[in-house]
Formats: sequence, structure tokens, C-alpha cells
Amino acid sequence: MDRQTIDGPAINPPGPATTDALPDPAGIYTPGGLRIYDSFVMGLLAERVWGCPAEHFVDFYREHLKPAHADIGVGTGYCIDRCEPGPTERLALIDLRQSCLDYCAERLERFRPETFVRDARMPILIDARRFDSIGLGGLLHSLPGDMRDKGGVFDAIAPIAAPDAVIFGYTLVCDGANATLTRRTVHRTLNALHVIDNDHDHMADLAAELARRFTDCRLRLIGNVAFFSATVRSTPIFKHSPGDPI
Ligand SMILES: C[S@@+](CC[C@H](N)C(=O)[O-])C[C@H]1O[C@@H](n2cnc3c(N)ncnc32)[C@H](O)[C@@H]1O
Repeated sequence: MDRQTIDGPAINPPGPATTDALPDPAGIYTPGGLRIYDSFVMGLLAERVWGCPAEHFVDFYREHLKPAHADIGVGTGYCIDRCEPGPTERLALIDLRQSCLDYCAERLERFRPETFVRDARMPILIDARRFDSIGLGGLLHSLPGDMRDKGGVFDAIAPIAAPDAVIFGYTLVCDGANATLTRRTVHRTLNALHVIDNDHDHMADLAAELARRFTDCRLRLIGNVAFFSATVRSTPIFKHSPGDPI
């Protein structure tokens, strides 16, 4: 297999230096957890609880993914695996958890991925040409803080985004989270267990964070999943200079 794992902390400081710094109270990101992730999250939760069947996620990836793609917060690589022809030129898998990188790299071996241990809350510096699409599926609702804090991820990707690159993703938000008793209960339970952290995440705030930095910002809510896409300006306007802690 022609792939490379490069340790992050030396060039992605400061902050959690290892995967161990990320809590995983439900064991979702253990090798065993990752094996059942797709059936549980994309099968059961997405369709029956969030009101957003898995095909919406996959279609969104198909629509936005470019031949040179970087994915941040990779999970199991479910959507990329279902995209044909997929990232035919280059694929970078970026995550703070080595277990997710290992799982995805094996599953997506046909795209010859490179893997990078990085914290998405800090400027992402990797020794590679910039990418034309950057996927952030399911990452924001995993991060602590409100949308303003999470918007730091949009600054952190500056070093790897080509001019006019498309950034896209989806995240569970509060909007619509109380629509059904089941959804409200699961939403509260997952927040209490720190599996997700989206108690203060609103679609309007996400729209504002995108609009501050990007052009052509689009958002759509399906169930309580906010899908978003935007285009990186040819001359990026970022809140922080690349290299600054965010
Ligand atoms: C909910 S999963 C999303 C998986 C996949 N992208 C999807 O759409 O199903 C969140 C992913 O983000 C990663 N993650 C969480 N916090 C992170 C951070 N600070 N930096 C980088 N990756 C992070 C997790 O390890 C996990 O792979």
C-alpha cells in the first residue's frame, strides 16, 4: 500500500498531542465501534432519528467532491467510498484519531490516500499541494463550543485550500432537534455522553461563520442536519494568519 502517515503534533501545535486526548466515552471510534458505525449511524440514526436518510449524505459528497480532495474528520469514510469516480488525483485523510485514519485508509485504498494526524481546530499544515475540495462531514458537531468557536475550523483549513476550492459538509444542529420525542431524547443523550457537542449549534450562526470567510455559501436543513457548502475566495480572507493558534 502506497500511503504515508505523518505525525501531527510537531507541526500542528499546541493542543492535544495524541488521539488519547479526545474522549471516546461510547467506544465509537475503537476498531469494534467503527465496524458497526455505518449501520448504526448512517442506517439507524440518520434515517430513523435525524430524519435524513444516508443517500442525502452520499449525494452531497458526489456533488461536491473534486479529484484533489482532503477530508477532515473522516470517521469510516462511508461517503467517499460510495463516490465514483471519487478523488482520482489525490486524497488526504485528516483526523485526530489514528483509529479512524487506519480504518479509512484501508477501506479507501483504491484512491491511494495519504493520512495525517491533525487537530482540525488548529492550522492544518501538511506537506502537500493545496486541495480543490475539502470535506468536513460530521466534524463540527463533534467539536466543543458554539458555532463561533467551531468556525475556527474554517480558518484552520486555510493552508490546504486552493483558491476557489469548495468546502462542504454537514453537521447536526439544534434547529429541528426537538421535532420528535425520539430525536429530542437521542440528541440530549448524545450530548450528555459527549458523543456530540451541539447544544448551542444553530444554522443561522453557521451561515454567519461561512459568510465571514467564503463566497457562494449555501445551506440546507434536512431533519436536524445542516448541509453546507461554500467557495474559498481567490484571495482568502481569514480571521487568523496561517500559523497562529486559533
Ligand atoms: C461524527 S464523525 C464523522 C465521520 C464522517 N466524516 C461522516 O460523515 O460520517 C467525526 C470525526 O471527526 C473526528 N474528529 C473529532 N474531533 C476532531 C479534531 N479536533 N480534529 C480532527 N478530527 C476530529 C473524529 O475522530 C471522527 O473521525
